[in-house]
Amino acid sequence: MSNTTNTAHPTTQVVEVPVTDTPDIAAGAPHLIALRDVGKHYGNVIALSDVSMDVDAGRVTCVLGDNGAGKSTLIKIIAGLHQHSAGTFSIQGEERTLSSPREALDSGIAAVYQDLAVVPLMPIWRNFFLGSELRGPLGALNVKEMKRITKQELLDMGIDLRDVDQPIGTLSGGEKQCVAIARAVYFGAKALILDEPTAALGVKQSGVVLKYILRARDRGLGVIFITHNPHHAYPVGDRFLLLRRGKSIGYFEKTDITLPELTGLMAGGAELEELAHELEQVGGQDDRIEEIRAAEA
Ligand SMILES: Nc1ncnc2c1ncn2[C@@H]1O[C@H](COP(=O)(O)OP(=O)(O)O)[C@@H](O)[C@H]1O
Ligand SMILES: [Mg+2]
Repeated sequence: MSNTTNTAHPTTQVVEVPVTDTPDIAAGAPHLIALRDVGKHYGNVIALSDVSMDVDAGRVTCVLGDNGAGKSTLIKIIAGLHQHSAGTFSIQGEERTLSSPREALDSGIAAVYQDLAVVPLMPIWRNFFLGSELRGPLGALNVKEMKRITKQELLDMGIDLRDVDQPIGTLSGGEKQCVAIARAVYFGAKALILDEPTAALGVKQSGVVLKYILRARDRGLGVIFITHNPHHAYPVGDRFLLLRRGKSIGYFEKTDITLPELTGLMAGGAELEELAHELEQVGGQDDRIEEIRAAEA
């Protein structure tokens, strides 16, 4: 296994940028989120080691990697579901360990998961305000106001729904993702984590979601976009963290990497990984597996 971190794949010639000091961010201002040499183990399993990345307002940080790369582990740490076991995790310059998603939300970090927690038969506006309902002085639901806000917030994101009274289950997958993004924006998120929002979507729907990622960015959020598709990441991303088997294999500003290079890093790794995995499955051939692992490193 590789013991070098932050090294590009040998077949691609890409220059790496140091993680620290992003020049285009106001000097002295701390990053919205900064991870330094973060690691996480589950018992004996090392899910993540020595991972560093930054998230800034009005920027999209993409996290790329195949299955088992450590993407979900990474965002669970940021979203307060798990705690890191090494390195530092800072929010606006302050070192933190979050103990719950509630604490993450209170710090302005919202996560939208692929299996959205929506109630399909409930109207869009009810889902929008789920758990944070507006009430009048006597405790009654302020339905009119919630509908108005839902419609307005969706409009501000460029989503024109005729009727916010329709069940959210009637919306397409892409539209549901967009409602979740608009919701996070409305409830004051500073950082927005999107875990594989385009994975289950077709080309057109993916395009729609990518558009709302840019809207959220333009509204000043720091977006963390998790995907295994470089073709989705590249058009919207400002920087790219590539993970493989829990380690960073590169962290690039967009100006320092092209789409073919990004794809090459992803694809080259995936093919070798798959081959090694297949050999492991059929058993034996340890020397061959070692060879492949060495080629990857
Ligand atoms: N709760 C857990 N307990 C033990 N191992 C885990 C747990 N969650 C993830 N892992 C392991 O950590 C590694 C990274 O997984 P994960 O973060 O889910 O990757 P990804 O989201 O990129 O597919 C995998 O080897 C996985 O089996
Ligand atoms: Mg995952």
